[in-house]
Amino acid sequence: MFRARDALREVPDARGKRVSARRLNHGRELFVTYCSACHGVEGDGKGPAAVGLRPPPRNFKQGQYKFAAVASGQLPNDEDLLRIVQKGLHGSAMLPWNDVPERDLLDIIQYLKTLSPKWPRRHPGSRSCPGRTRGATRERPRRSRAA
Ligand code: HEC
Repeated sequence: MFRARDALREVPDARGKRVSARRLNHGRELFVTYCSACHGVEGDGKGPAAVGLRPPPRNFKQGQYKFAAVASGQLPNDEDLLRIVQKGLHGSAMLPWNDVPERDLLDIIQYLKTLSPKWPRRHPGSRSCPGRTRGATRERPRRSRAA
């Protein structure tokens, strides 16, 4: 289960570091170029190429992910998202994007997080890899600047 620990203004990356507006804007441009045909310019999964696709492209506004390796209800972390985007999702229209530089994909991933109101409020879950206790890598909660 998820508990809101703090209210972050900025989008945290996997290490809880703030992501610059420059990277987010760059990510947005690349998203529109590469991903919007299916996922929609707004990220709502209703791009022109989405018609009739089964399974349908993910609606990023919902902040719900199926495949990322974190406990259900938590948000996936950057590493998981990167792996999914690089490898694609077998049996779906989501193809591997391994010809796009990793740095560019990471900018897109940061941008995806701005599409759902869930991201700024939640921390990405720690990877649920076997042999590692969940929560072991948890960072100290950061103080909200708004308060
Ligand atoms: C040709 C259509 C198409 C394009 C282009 C496309 N996707 Fe997808 N994407 C899909 C579909 C369909 C799914 C849902 C697959 C499923 O549910 O099995 C999906 C799912 C995803 C997911 C969900 C992973 C999860 O855990 O739920 C992510 C993240 C994603 N796409 C990112 C991207 C990014 C980033 C780009 C651009 C670099 C992109 N997609 C381009 C069709 C597309």
